[in-house]
Formats: sequence, C-alpha cells, structure tokens
Amino acid sequence: MAFKWNKWLPRIALLVLCAFAIIALVLSLVGIHSVALPPENKYGLVFDAGSSHTSLFVYQWPMDKENNTGVVSQTFSCHVNGSGISSYTKNPTEAGASLRPCLDEAMRVIPPERQREAPAYLGATAGMRLLRKQNPSTSDQILEEVGKAIREYPVSFRGARIISGEDEGAYGWITINYLLHSFTQYSAKDRDWVHPTSAGLLGALDLGGASTQISFLPTESIANSFRFRLYGFDYGIYTHSYLCYGQNEALNQVIRVLLNDSSSSSTLDHPCYPKGYNESIEVASLFNSSCANNQTKPPDAASKVFLVGTGNARLCREAIRNIFNFSNCSHNKSCGFNGVYQPRVDGKFLAFSAYYYTFSFLNLTETHPLPVVEDAINAFCDRTWKDLNTSYPKQNSTRLLNYCASANYILTLLLDGYGFSNTSWENIAFQMQAGNSDIGWTLGYMLNLTNMIPSEMPQTLRGHEEGPWVASVFFIVVTLALAIVLLLINFFQ
Ligand SMILES: *[C@@H]1O[C@H](CO)[C@@H](O)[C@H](O)[C@H]1NC(C)=O
Ligand SMILES: *[C@@H]1O[C@H](CO)[C@@H](O)[C@H](O)[C@H]1NC(C)=O
Ligand SMILES: *[C@@H]1O[C@H](CO)[C@@H](O)[C@H](O)[C@H]1NC(C)=O
Ligand SMILES: *[C@@H]1O[C@H](CO)[C@@H](O)[C@H](O)[C@H]1NC(C)=O
Ligand SMILES: *[C@@H]1O[C@H](CO)[C@@H](O)[C@H](O)[C@H]1NC(C)=O
Repeated sequence: MAFKWNKWLPRIALLVLCAFAIIALVLSLVGIHSVALPPENKYGLVFDAGSSHTSLFVYQWPMDKENNTGVVSQTFSCHVNGSGISSYTKNPTEAGASLRPCLDEAMRVIPPERQREAPAYLGATAGMRLLRKQNPSTSDQILEEVGKAIREYPVSFRGARIISGEDEGAYGWITINYLLHSFTQYSAKDRDWVHPTSAGLLGALDLGGASTQISFLPTESIANSFRFRLYGFDYGIYTHSYLCYGQNEALNQVIRVLLNDSSSSSTLDHPCYPKGYNESIEVASLFNSSCANNQTKPPDAASKVFLVGTGNARLCREAIRNIFNFSNCSHNKSCGFNGVYQPRVDGKFLAFSAYYYTFSFLNLTETHPLPVVEDAINAFCDRTWKDLNTSYPKQNSTRLLNYCASANYILTLLLDGYGFSNTSWENIAFQMQAGNSDIGWTLGYMLNLTNMIPSEMPQTLRGHEEGPWVASVFFIVVTLALAIVLLLINFFQ
C-alpha cells in the first residue's frame, strides 16, 4: 500500500510546529538575549598616565545600547613597563616608545574593523601637573611624543593632555556611580527608568602617587560645586584634589620634615619604617621635587644620611600629622585640611587605587571597626625589616618598606584630614573593581568626552526594552495559529 503523503504531511507539519512553539516559549522564558547573536561591540581606549606608572584600559559596549547606563565595561587592561611619563624628562621619545607594547596588545583585542572608529585618549595626572609647573616645555614635549606614538596606530586619537585635579576627582565619581548603575535604573515595578535616591550615590576616594582626590554629593548645598546634568538630573558634587598629598609625595614630605627636625646630621630615625632598616639616601634628591617648594634643605645636612627605621605606629602618625595644617580654616565652615573648604563627609564611599592596594596587602579591605584596623596596623608596624623580608619574599621591597607608612598616612588623611569619624569610617568600602571594570577616572573621562552619558534621558531609553518580548510573543501566536489551521485541515480530510 502506498504511503499516504496527503494524509501524513499535515500531521508531521503539525508536530514540527508544536515543537517550535514549545521551543519558542521556553526561549522567551529563559530570555531571548542569551540565545540571540551577540550585538556588535564598539571600543574605546584610555591611557591613565599617572605619576608612578601608566596603564592602558580598553572598554567595550554594545553598539545599539550606547546611551544606556552601565553598559560600558572594561575588556582589557595593560600595565606599561617603566615609570610614569613625567620621568622621561631627558628622553621624551622614550615615553612614547614605552606605550607601544600595550598598544600592540590592544590591537589584538579590538577587531580590526572596529579599530578606526575607536576613540583613544591619554590623560596625564599629578606627575605631569608637577612637571608642567617646574618645566612647561618638557611636559609639552612629552605629551607630543606620547601623542605621536598613539597616532601610529589605526585608532581615532583624540588627544593627550594633562587633566585637572578636579576633573580627575569628578570623573572617578562618575565612573563609580555609572558602574554601579546609580544614575538611572530600570524599575520593573514602575515599568520605567527611575532616578535612584541620592543616598544611592557613592563618594569617591582616590589616592594616587602624587595627588589625592575626594568627591561626594554633600547634604548641604555648596557654592563651588562641580555641576553636571546626566540622564535628565542635575548633580552638584564637591570635589577637591590635593597636589603633593598622593602617597609617594606625602611620604617624601614626611621625610623632609623629619630631616628638618632631626638633631643628628648623619642619621635620620623614621618611625614609619621597620626596625632593622638602615639605608643611605641622597638628601638633595628629596628636595628637587616641586612639592618641596616650601620645605628647604637644612643647611647643616650632609649630602647623604642613613635612614633608620624605628617601627612605631604612634610616632609615625605623629610625624605624618606634621605635613598637614589643620588649624587655618578661614571658611567659617568646615575644612578638609590646609585651609581647604570641605563640607562634612556624608553617605557611603568607595576608596580605590592606593587605598585599596595598601589595605589589601594588610588584609583590611573588609569592613572592620576602626579600633580593629588600628590594632592591625600597629601590629604590622611593630614587625622588623628582617621578619617582613622572610615573611613576604615575593613582595617588591620598596612597597614592603612603605606599607606601615602608607597605612598610617591613609588613617591620618581619612580621619584627621577629611574628618571621617569612628562611625562614618564604616561607610568606606575599599575596592578596586566594580563588575569587571577597574575603578578610576578613566571610564568617566571617556564617557564624558564621547557624550555617552547624555544630559537628558534619551528617547531610546524611555521606551523600555520590549523588543525581544514583543517579537517572541508574536512568533508564538503565529506558530499556534498555523498549527490550529493545519489541525483543522487535517480534521476535515
Ligand atoms: C545617543 O544619544 C545621542 C544624543 O541624545 C544620539 O544622537 C544618539 O543617536 C544616541 N545613540 C544611540 C545608539 O541611541
Ligand atoms: C614588561 O616587561 C616584562 C619583562 O621585561 C615583559 O615580560 C613584558 O612582556 C613587558 N610587558 C609589556 C606590556 O611591555
Ligand atoms: C646604619 O648603617 C651604617 C653603615 O652600614 C652604620 O655606620 C650605622 O651605624 C647604622 N646605623 C644604625 C642605627 O644601625
Ligand atoms: C560663623 O560661625 C559662628 C559660629 O558657628 C556663627 O556664630 C557666625 O554667625 C558665623 N558667621 C558667618 C558670617 O556665617
Ligand atoms: C593576609 O592573609 C594571608 C592569608 O591568611 C596571610 O598569609 C598574610 O600574612 C596576611 N597579611 C598580613 C600583612 O597580615
């Protein structure tokens, strides 16, 4: 007997369609996103040219979601070998050459067809701010050389420049709140994009090698705020950058003060260095920084002195406090330090860069009560140089030497400088990343310069994400309708 195609075909088609409908239903439940082709990405590059080193960050984002909040993420980062670009005063071309290995690697990460449109920036911070003060023509020359090196690559180079301390602070604040989706969030309940309360916005604490920044949304309204409008909302944040109060420059200030107060001309006791440490240092090199302007070399100092560690946290903090001026607040209001106006710190903060590195080494990045942190730091400062070297043989020895000093500097800066208290201390989270992106000023800088944070809520965001849902529901309905038609045809045969 012949196989009855006219009878079986509709039944097979019916089965296939039912299977499709079920698959479509399952897919729409698990989220159509995960099975759809990945959207095409766009890329951007930012060099963070800091005082002690340079890093390259490559960011990516889906092309069709350019204006949404929180969609840009870090896809690659590269540590440039050697020291910061401001150290290339004798050979500026080498500063450019130093960037090439990282650029080569970035070109392997960014698909060739996306490179030409990728914006590329270099932002230099406090190391170059100091060099520009001391020697503007050399700092210009270095910026020109690094620009030349980046132009050799097929990217859309948008300039190499020194960014101001206030910009650095504000861009760090934008980066954090962008990564944590604090500016605007899609609310499933309201079926719309909503503006989270200001309590959801985090302050930014950045500690570099040569400068340090504090940025937050104050409760009181302030006169000289840094104002911007993002996604239809106005923000006026307080931000200040203290030049020469980055970790390295601050600790050099401490040595200069100790040297001026020292009774001996050949040895210098340093309470922030571990017992058993004894190295000879060049005195002149300590005073040839722009940060030494108002500190003069003691006339009777030898050209070399022995820096001898005495490992005492209490005396260390006392020595550090001497580089701050806490008394000359002329603003009839609150001050940070050195007479700089600062509203009372308020809300939660993220402390990153050197705050994080130091506290991470000391296992103190979790939230602990202040006395616990102080005890841990005191105990660490008690350890001898020999003990530290045998316990942490893999640590870079300059860093190992400085952890006690850095930790005490951080405590002094946060508590005495910015005015965090025993209680508000616990509002500070020590963190290096949010999502998979490093926290720093670079992401906020790129977002701002590419207009990826629109000042008004874009129309594309207003109509919330119904595309995939509408499409899959439509697909299911059509499939079921076809199945019913086939079923009816089959039934009447
Ligand atoms: C992003 O916003 C800008 C300005 O509102 C607009 O010109 C651009 O087309 C938007 N891009 C996307 C992908 O929606
Ligand atoms: C940095 O230097 C090390 C050792 O010389 C080398 O292995 C590494 O590839 C260099 N990295 C970059 C990005 O230049
Ligand atoms: C430091 O080292 C020098 C030379 O090695 C030595 O003369 C001096 O006594 C040492 N100082 C201390 C306090 O150990
Ligand atoms: C300055 O502060 C004092 C004490 O807080 C207050 O009495 C005084 O009115 C303030 N002056 C101004 C000009 O705000
Ligand atoms: C941090 O914790 C690790 C693992 O417990 C330990 O080996 C290390 O010594 C600790 N570091 C400090 C500075 O106490």
